[in-house]
Amino acid sequence: MKALILVGGYGTRLRPLTLTQPKPVVEFANKPMVLHQIEALAAVGVDTVILAVSYRAELVEKMIRDDAERLGIKIIFSVEDQPLDTAGPLALAKDQLNDNEPFFVLNSDVICGFPFKDMMEFHKKHGREGTIAVTRVEEPSKYGVVVYDEKDGKINRFVEKPQEYVGNKINSGMYILNPTVLDRIPKAPTSIEKKVFPEMCSKQDLYAFVLPGYWMDIGQPKDFLKGVRLYLKDVQKTNVETGDSVFAHGPSIVEPVMVHSSVQLPKSGTIGPNVVIGPDVVMEEGIRIINSTILAGTTIREHSFINSSIIGRKCSVGRWVRIDNTSVIGDDVVIQDELYLNGACVLPHKSISKNVPEPDIIM
Ligand code: GDD
Ligand code: MG
Repeated sequence: MKALILVGGYGTRLRPLTLTQPKPVVEFANKPMVLHQIEALAAVGVDTVILAVSYRAELVEKMIRDDAERLGIKIIFSVEDQPLDTAGPLALAKDQLNDNEPFFVLNSDVICGFPFKDMMEFHKKHGREGTIAVTRVEEPSKYGVVVYDEKDGKINRFVEKPQEYVGNKINSGMYILNPTVLDRIPKAPTSIEKKVFPEMCSKQDLYAFVLPGYWMDIGQPKDFLKGVRLYLKDVQKTNVETGDSVFAHGPSIVEPVMVHSSVQLPKSGTIGPNVVIGPDVVMEEGIRIINSTILAGTTIREHSFINSSIIGRKCSVGRWVRIDNTSVIGDDVVIQDELYLNGACVLPHKSISKNVPEPDIIM
């Protein structure tokens, strides 16, 4: 079985993290985003994953090569000369996808329990050309909205990012398609959401598989942090493979807290809930971290406070610093002692020596 993962796009909404790394390899819960998907695909018998990329393929390749080998998965890079949007990449990879069997297509920036086995069973049962996994959200306007028959799942309408309310069931960015669809997609920038799906709906060829459990698009900082919270809660229950990371316990931990095995926890201070600590992070005494992700190689000096924020790789956070309100700190940033960062978006390689009292981009 094959799968194509859409890993192009510039990940602008996840800047500054995506200024030094392509979005699919930004670490979510200590694992490159796209690896969560590749592992779940491998578990249902997918043997070939085509990564549709439009930039910086070398970096993506380097970061997932070993894992792919471990999983016994063949990774093929399908590189676009120009971004082909969300359907064009399928046409570009037509020869690799076309083997008379349905295949998976995934957006690279979504996290959930990935119930691919049930999804494939559903697809085979209805027997039509395509299946979209759908979920319910509070704010449907930033997604593709799907209107379908509750009885059999047949989709009547697909509206990408509707201006007016259409419904609250949305496209979760995971599909199963029959190879016949490949004959109708041009090798040119084409949107699967605006062109291919509406056409399939009008031929009654598209069905909705309702996702059980949690789901999140983690392509924006706030949603990324929300995704971490949902993921940790789920993994605590389901024992999903977490690689070199474990759940921390102890008097200074408010669970759940996921830490890389290379990390030593401080004896004083409080960490958690909903915190992820990456490899080789150094944490000094008396710190407080809540609802945040700290990426690899960063140092947090004593008595600092970090809430609802993402700290990039190899940063240095000084003593008595306070970082709050969805601040996102790029890689290799130095933050001097005693500063307050409120909703700061700090570009990589900066040295910060002044407070950021209101949400701002520091370039
Ligand atoms: N190869 C390639 N080339 N991939 C691309 C390109 C491109 O030109 N443009 C976007 N992608 C990839 C992105 O990397 C991402 O994995 C996926 O296509 C979707 O793009 P996003 O930019 O993340 O779209 P979105 O989040 O606004 O909306 C999409 O996802 C929602 C669910 O999270 C749509 O599919 C919506 O319908 C859906 O609800
Ligand atoms: Mg997205």
